[in-house]
Amino acid sequence: MNKAKTITKADLARINIIISEYSSQQKWAMIPLLQKIQSEFGFIPPQSVPFIARSLGVFPSQVQGVISFYTQLYTQPRGKKIVRVCRGTACHVRGGKTILKLVKQHLDIEEGETTPDFEYTLETVACIGVCALAPNMVVSDHVHGHMNPKKVEQLFKHQEGEK
Ligand code: FES
Repeated sequence: MNKAKTITKADLARINIIISEYSSQQKWAMIPLLQKIQSEFGFIPPQSVPFIARSLGVFPSQVQGVISFYTQLYTQPRGKKIVRVCRGTACHVRGGKTILKLVKQHLDIEEGETTPDFEYTLETVACIGVCALAPNMVVSDHVHGHMNPKKVEQLFKHQEGEK
């Protein structure tokens, strides 16, 4: 379940300062500006889109279009730890589907969602390039190979206790 992260007036003020640093520039400044906002807030608050558009002299729909195009730009808050379960063929035939199901159960979220405490975001990937260790998953850029139910439990025991 995703819950909305509250953007305060202070956050919006900070966003407007960032925007002002880029506003004298042309449309091509849009991506660095979006990246800067995301690096500070972890995502691009939707409330900031009209301000970004006005400062760059474009329509809000154009800003939204750029955000939608780039998969590394997010308008929803993400967890501190990104969990990626491999859906590739090697992992699939060695139980990757079960690993994904167990991770969903432990975190109590679906793919693409973030835990309410913003600790974890769950994603899947096509292949992470270490098929010999299948089934695999990655937590905060650390690869966990030869996954099994026990290992999933160990990884998320802490999260389970907080429910
Ligand atoms: S298929 Fe999972 S790492 Fe390659």
